[in-house]
Amino acid sequence: MKLFNILFPMIISIRAAIASLIAEASTQNLEFKTCVVNPGGNSSIDDAPAIIDAFTQCGHNGKILFLNETYHVNTVLNTTGLKNCEVDLRGTLLILQSSAWVFGGDNINFQGHGYGTLNGSGQAWYTFIHGKSNYPGRPHAITIANTTNSVFEGIKFVQSQMWTMTVIHSKNVLLQDIYVNNAGNDGTTSSNTDGANTIFSDHITFKRWDITNGDDSIAFKANSTNIRVLDSTFHNGLGIAFGSIGQYKGEFNTIENIRVKNITCYNTLHGAYVKTWTGQQVGYPPNGGGGGLGFMKDILLSDFTLNNLRGIPFSISQCTTFSGVAGACNTSLFEIEDLTFENVAGTIGTNPIASLQCSAAAPCKNITLQNIDLALRNGTAASGYNCDAVFGSIGFNCTGFTCGTSSATGSC
Ligand SMILES: *[C@@H]1O[C@H](CO)[C@@H](O)[C@H](O)[C@H]1NC(C)=O
Ligand SMILES: *[C@@H]1O[C@H](CO)[C@@H](O)[C@H](O)[C@H]1NC(C)=O
Ligand SMILES: *[C@@H]1O[C@H](CO)[C@@H](O)[C@H](O)[C@H]1NC(C)=O
Ligand SMILES: *[C@@H]1O[C@H](CO)[C@@H](O)[C@H](O)[C@H]1NC(C)=O
Ligand SMILES: *[C@@H]1O[C@H](CO)[C@@H](O)[C@H](O)[C@H]1NC(C)=O
Ligand SMILES: *[C@@H]1O[C@H](CO)[C@@H](O)[C@H](O)[C@H]1NC(C)=O
Ligand SMILES: *[C@@H]1O[C@H](CO)[C@@H](O)[C@H](O)[C@H]1NC(C)=O
Ligand SMILES: *[C@@H]1O[C@H](CO)[C@@H](O)[C@H](O)[C@H]1NC(C)=O
Ligand SMILES: *[C@@H]1O[C@H](CO)[C@@H](O)[C@H](O)[C@H]1NC(C)=O
Ligand SMILES: *[C@@H]1O[C@H](CO)[C@@H](O)[C@H](O)[C@H]1NC(C)=O
Ligand SMILES: *[C@@H]1O[C@H](CO)[C@@H](O)[C@H](O)[C@H]1NC(C)=O
Repeated sequence: MKLFNILFPMIISIRAAIASLIAEASTQNLEFKTCVVNPGGNSSIDDAPAIIDAFTQCGHNGKILFLNETYHVNTVLNTTGLKNCEVDLRGTLLILQSSAWVFGGDNINFQGHGYGTLNGSGQAWYTFIHGKSNYPGRPHAITIANTTNSVFEGIKFVQSQMWTMTVIHSKNVLLQDIYVNNAGNDGTTSSNTDGANTIFSDHITFKRWDITNGDDSIAFKANSTNIRVLDSTFHNGLGIAFGSIGQYKGEFNTIENIRVKNITCYNTLHGAYVKTWTGQQVGYPPNGGGGGLGFMKDILLSDFTLNNLRGIPFSISQCTTFSGVAGACNTSLFEIEDLTFENVAGTIGTNPIASLQCSAAAPCKNITLQNIDLALRNGTAASGYNCDAVFGSIGFNCTGFTCGTSSATGSC
């Protein structure tokens, strides 16, 4: 495993390393089997049992091959604990809207060739929830859990039920050339259709993602460390998100060493934003909470091109609380420090450039905003840095305060 720690910055090498590990496993006289999954070919036939059977047979030192066919996944897939496993997805998994996939293991190479697809049949949810947030029972398309030293590549996700991907309790995972399109049949995007979320995960790299969705493009939640997002394009969603975090009273969580570079946004709400719960617990998760502890630091966001942004390019809000309740924006003890947003160009819909509503109980420290060259749609240079409780502004001067009750969008 040490090999991977050394190789982490050279992500391109990971795939070769895995291939050689798998090759090594097979030369050690471990039988390397291939299981071909045959589809039932009818939506009334659930292919999940056949898929699970293939992973049971070939999930250790083996390959699971999905043909260029449509598979109907009508019940939950739980294929965890895999080892030295290749997944070759050449067709489409049409996942019934009530179902999902929990996936995980060590030394996995999941290859979609740029066309292997997971279709979450999300339209039924988009119609049903009518914009309601965090509707109970709405599944995530794929949960990558307890996964180490693995690569996911060339996979398409369409119409995810809710979040497209959750990476949880995982380490040393590269996800590249991934396409996500959660637009509904009418072309609009639904709430909570996040691209990807990381939770309790370390050394995760997202490279060349293209995401069209209606919520966070990629979000880093509790205990996300050493995460990279590179060379990616986001459409319509909210941009890069830190949080929400601090929702669980007394829990100590961190977000640390995050590098996001070469990002192009089209019509997203933000380039990037930070959202913490207040220091006071009001109600209980998922829709209430607050009072969490911890910090985020060593964050570098660079080389952003923003096209026709809908909201504030960079926003911090520490005001999140139970929906409909206001205030207590100065109570969060979650610390935000050493954060840089730089080399940002493009067009935005409205001033200011940044809204930094930091909690007076634990002020933000060392925030750098530099080399920002943005214009409003009419060509006028964008301006304005609204700040509360910012200690150490580097590359900019605060030009005013926020309204003090700014929402997660940075607006009032
Ligand atoms: C699918 O299965 C249903 C129920 O068994 C059957 O009525 C239908 O004809 C099948 N469709 C196809 C295309 O085979
Ligand atoms: C998959 O099969 C369809 C026909 O069913 C064909 O049009 C398509 O080109 C095939 N895709 C690949 C990548 O082979
Ligand atoms: C998946 O299966 C594993 C192993 O049997 C189990 O530990 C885990 O709880 C299951 N996860 C879900 C979401 O069902
Ligand atoms: C996804 O599946 C739905 C049926 O549930 C279908 O209407 C839609 O066209 C599919 N999307 C794509 C991009 O294939
Ligand atoms: C991950 O591993 C832990 C501990 O081994 C286990 O409790 C948990 O159920 C696993 N999660 C999944 C989704 O398999
Ligand atoms: C930035 O990312 C795009 C893909 O979105 C890629 O085409 C381009 O080469 C990248 N630029 C650099 C300097 O790496
Ligand atoms: C999150 O990370 C913190 C700091 O390393 C640690 O104290 C805490 O136990 C972690 N939480 C979980 C649930 O792993
Ligand atoms: C601010 O953060 C940067 C980057 O993390 C660091 O190099 C610098 O020393 C910090 N400055 C202060 C005054 O803490
Ligand atoms: C451009 O729009 C901004 C914001 O609406 C406005 O303040 C400014 O005067 C406009 N500039 C021109 C040249 O119309
Ligand atoms: C929060 O604290 C800031 C000072 O850091 C102050 O300007 C602001 O008025 C306070 N907001 C509220 C709602 O008390
Ligand atoms: C901030 O204001 C100070 C004092 O007016 C000025 O010297 C400095 O150049 C300003 N910095 C920026 C980045 O505008």
